[in-house]
Amino acid sequence: MQSGGSETAAPPVLSVRNLRKTFGDLEVLKRASFDIYQKEVVGIIGASGSGKSTLLRCLNLLETPTDGTIDLQGERFGFRQRSEGEMTLLSASEIARQRAKTGMVFQSFNLWPHRSVLENVIEGLIIVKRIPRPEAQEIGVRLLEKVGLKDKIDSYPARLSGGQQQRVGIARALAMDPAILLLDEPTSALDPELVGEVLNVIGELAEEGMTMIIVTHEMRFAHEACDRVIFLHEGLIADDGPPSYIFGPCASERTQAFVARYVSRHAGDSMPRKSEIR
Ligand SMILES: Nc1ncnc2c1ncn2[C@@H]1O[C@H](COP(=O)(O)OP(=O)(O)OP(=O)(O)O)[C@@H](O)[C@H]1O
Ligand SMILES: [Mg+2]
Repeated sequence: MQSGGSETAAPPVLSVRNLRKTFGDLEVLKRASFDIYQKEVVGIIGASGSGKSTLLRCLNLLETPTDGTIDLQGERFGFRQRSEGEMTLLSASEIARQRAKTGMVFQSFNLWPHRSVLENVIEGLIIVKRIPRPEAQEIGVRLLEKVGLKDKIDSYPARLSGGQQQRVGIARALAMDPAILLLDEPTSALDPELVGEVLNVIGELAEEGMTMIIVTHEMRFAHEACDRVIFLHEGLIADDGPPSYIFGPCASERTQAFVARYVSRHAGDSMPRKSEIR
């Protein structure tokens, strides 16, 4: 196993140690540990059910970890250490404040259907960050412009294409000015012809130095667009390294078998190359 970013002098943005998540008897995450450094674009690959979404949901505190620690910019996530060494769960408002630091982009967009595009983007700013509406609207318009949707600010999600809805989802996540962006298969619900417009936005964010973790089934995207790839196997980090390692002959046998299976199944993979999106 290799570890990415360890040559960087700056401390990691995100530090995960021994993260476990169980649902009843099912142990979905088994002591996952990794660091994410500033400006890294890290892909997470793995079979369906290996725990990729659960991992991102734990990082976003949509799931409460069963065990282990998450530190974002040096701040312990989700829990407070009590003097006797026990951990207590933070209050709902503290969790909401922390959650906003890890912007989440969902596969199925998760937009409010009865709110306009702009309202979707600024809701968190008003409710969680308590920013006055005019200022929030200014931020929202700027972000919608950034993702190429300024002309859609008053539209409702149902009137938008999937690619446009996902770009709203990205603008909404960016509105909270997160330290890291978590994207869970951001293009897999899209028709192939709409994938490019979303990847272009992700590529621009990477160019600007946004730190990102992207769960993807698209091996070509992981290979070409990510600085580093983590292979999750049955809740364990089976491999972690630069794409040249993960997709090369030195990766673990298990990783090579997984990648080979995918490549043969998705021979017509339509993902653009890194040079095309970054
Ligand atoms: N809320 C839950 N309650 C019970 N089991 C759950 C829950 N959420 C996830 N699981 C189980 O945890 C395992 C991992 O699920 P997860 O969604 O993290 O996988 P994944 O790697 O994202 O898969 P996919 O590639 O299909 O999205 C699965 O067996 C799933 O059924
Ligand atoms: Mg998933």
